[in-house]
Amino acid sequence: MNPDPHVIVLFGASGDLARRKLLPGLLRLFQAGLLPIDFRIVGTSLDELDDERFRRLARDAVAEFSRSHVYERSWEAFARRLSFVPGSGGPRALAERVRSARAELPPGARVLHYLSVPPRAAQSVVAELGEAGLAEGARIVMEKPFGTDLASARELNAAVHEVFEEPQVFRIDHFLGKEAAQNILALRFANGLFEPIWNRLHIDHVLIEVPETLSIGMRGSFYEATGAFRDMVVTHLMQVLAFVAMEPPTSLEPRAITEEKNKVFRSMKPLDPREVVRGQYAGYRDEPGVAPDSETETFVALKAEVDNWRWSGVPFYLRTGKRLAESGRIISIAYHEPPQGMFPRGSGVGAYGPDHMTFDLDEASRLSLSFYGKRPGPGMRLEKASMQFSLDETAYGRDVLEAYERLIHDALMGDHTLFTTADGIERLWEVSAPLLELPPPLQIYQPGSWGPETQHQLIAPHRWRLPFER
Ligand code: BG6
Repeated sequence: MNPDPHVIVLFGASGDLARRKLLPGLLRLFQAGLLPIDFRIVGTSLDELDDERFRRLARDAVAEFSRSHVYERSWEAFARRLSFVPGSGGPRALAERVRSARAELPPGARVLHYLSVPPRAAQSVVAELGEAGLAEGARIVMEKPFGTDLASARELNAAVHEVFEEPQVFRIDHFLGKEAAQNILALRFANGLFEPIWNRLHIDHVLIEVPETLSIGMRGSFYEATGAFRDMVVTHLMQVLAFVAMEPPTSLEPRAITEEKNKVFRSMKPLDPREVVRGQYAGYRDEPGVAPDSETETFVALKAEVDNWRWSGVPFYLRTGKRLAESGRIISIAYHEPPQGMFPRGSGVGAYGPDHMTFDLDEASRLSLSFYGKRPGPGMRLEKASMQFSLDETAYGRDVLEAYERLIHDALMGDHTLFTTADGIERLWEVSAPLLELPPPLQIYQPGSWGPETQHQLIAPHRWRLPFER
């Protein structure tokens, strides 16, 4: 479905996220016929680029990071709609460019501001948009992390609300745009099979693991002020946790889903710093943009609890980090052991951990169920078997949208379903406050390892699901 004609204003247009995801994503939407028929993209950032240099930067970014082929014809048509205003020209120069871009489109064209800027810059950009008259009737997409703690999130929300009404605001968390995250909702609420056992009576614990082999690359100054907890946990991992833990919404309307997610956040116990492991990879302090005595964590593992009727007593273990042994993005639901130990020791029962259901949060939907079955042959020897379910690109080709593509399209359509809200985010900062106030000491880990050893004590007698054993 095509959105209304739009001017898309991209703040931070020469930055890492724009190059990796936003520009390639916009091109892909264009090729899939999902951008408005009439649109302009106005880039802006602190770099002194002009239209030509910005187009070249975009072309290089797309060549390096795009998942789709760059067809000359579609590239030319796309690039013609790109322009750039350096931030040094101030809000007036930007307003002038947006006005002239709008004048090229049919009357009533909308404006979407996409703020791909660090948290500390977001507030001043919002204020400038207000002063320049660029907020009226526009929509705004804001990147995570939204604030850096409760006070700054409140301040930012208040500043945003001075300029924009809440329905104009789209706080993005791209993990919610991943196919597999939405598949949690489909699996839970479109089937009769799973929901009856989706609770403390049957589920022993939940693991959400997002290890990354990536380092912080050229994002030193952003990362140094952010760290793994703010970059990944209070944002992506907890949003995903809400999809796992929420009650059935009354409908798939944005309000209904948001209400249920926010109830999960309200039920979460404040994090206990004694149940958090923080790590930093050896060599992080030598990265460009990082302080030589940096206390920023590049790894975090923790226990979260949703203290409500459904989940009381079920730990949710979360972990993520940079420069780890492998990359992966999984949610694993581990079931209780059977009440009776009927199978003899040595039969293999329990040897591979509990039976579990695992969602792979990769771009396409993949789900597996692992359980014990009998190994063929004499006696009773058990093996862990696994049933895979997958909807992948081979079968669905062009329909599969990468998370950012999906969410940019939703914002252009004005659909809030997969976006986060001011209330929800503020509550998550409240839950995080004890950890932010009293962070446990950092433990240094070797790049290429799985992170600090104490993460295993944190969840003992359970085990992390990754690396997959079977
Ligand atoms: C971003 C974080 O939001 O998510 C990055 O800032 C992280 O540090 C990235 O690497 C992971 O996203 P994805 O989609 O590659 O799993």
